[in-house]
Amino acid sequence: MGNLSKRTAIVTGGARGIGGGTARKLAADGAHVLIIDVEESSAKKNVDTIRASGGQADFMIGDVSEENVVKEMVTLALNQTGRLDILVQNAYGGNAHASGSAVDISPDAWDRGLGLLARSLFLGAKYAVPAMEESGNVGGSSPDDWTGAGLRHGMAPNQNVGRIVNISSVHGLLQAPKALIYESGKAAVIGLTRQMAVDFGPLGITVNAIAPGHIVTEAGEAMWSESGNEPGFRLFELQYPVRRTGVPEDIANAIAFLCSDDASFITGVVLPVDGGLSIQLQEDVIMRLKDYIVENPNLRTHFDDRSLEQ
Ligand SMILES: NC(=O)c1ccc[n+]([C@@H]2O[C@H](COP(=O)([O-])OP(=O)(O)OC[C@H]3O[C@@H](n4cnc5c(N)ncnc54)[C@H](O)[C@@H]3O)[C@@H](O)[C@H]2O)c1
Repeated sequence: MGNLSKRTAIVTGGARGIGGGTARKLAADGAHVLIIDVEESSAKKNVDTIRASGGQADFMIGDVSEENVVKEMVTLALNQTGRLDILVQNAYGGNAHASGSAVDISPDAWDRGLGLLARSLFLGAKYAVPAMEESGNVGGSSPDDWTGAGLRHGMAPNQNVGRIVNISSVHGLLQAPKALIYESGKAAVIGLTRQMAVDFGPLGITVNAIAPGHIVTEAGEAMWSESGNEPGFRLFELQYPVRRTGVPEDIANAIAFLCSDDASFITGVVLPVDGGLSIQLQEDVIMRLKDYIVENPNLRTHFDDRSLEQ
């Protein structure tokens, strides 16, 4: 019995990467997980992996920027398990990372990018929140439990009715050049998370965001082997106070905590899970790494095609 047993969780983009690791972690903690993804073979593979280790999981193929898909995923979760407790909004792909400034990008690229990065999260909450409310608290809420110093003023509030975790990024906190769509989308995730936390707190539903640093996923491994080398990857690691980049499990563990009953007093936060990347003084990092870069003139990273003027 894990601490998420009897819960039903939806993980968008749960076939692989951070979502893949999150689906496995929530299932390992006892939740029944429904993966929504556009990529069928990876979704099936992840479901098979979860089931092989004794977990409960299913998948649905669909693009979460489409309203009917979001509506359908909530209905499917309710039909399969009779309830919905957790929504992790993580899906990412297509042109969500299309590069360019406001001058460069087209209005259509903006609509499609923000359609996935921000609008799909609004849709997720729109349909998931009523389902969570209807499902209620797994343990059932009993006013008799409402005792103890600091807890006993007024009516017993709704607690642990639902959890929404939205995936932002360090790019939602700090800006990189020529990335209007992604940076704006990830900043929007922070704003909509706070708004939803205020709106849904009284229902017993917490809403938090996570801002991951550089997480090496299956796609990240492929990107590094194509356009990076060892000294280049080491340069990335040296930028982190903890001297490593992340893995999907780092994010999955934080999400699982935010979804647990232990996190019932945490809402509206943006939790950086970034090995300390975003708390450093940037000019100090640059000066510290200057010698490493001079000593490794052949280092390559996936940023190599970007010049300072870009
Ligand atoms: N990997 C990182 O370094 C990093 C850092 C910060 C934030 N993030 C954020 O974490 C989240 C996951 O990123 P990742 O690196 O694991 O990505 P990924 O590409 O490895 O996985 C994304 C998953 O989403 C699915 N997907 C794409 N478009 C979809 C759609 N329209 N509907 C449903 N599913 C869709 C993909 O098929 C894939 O399975 C994203 O929100 C990303 O912005 C990632």
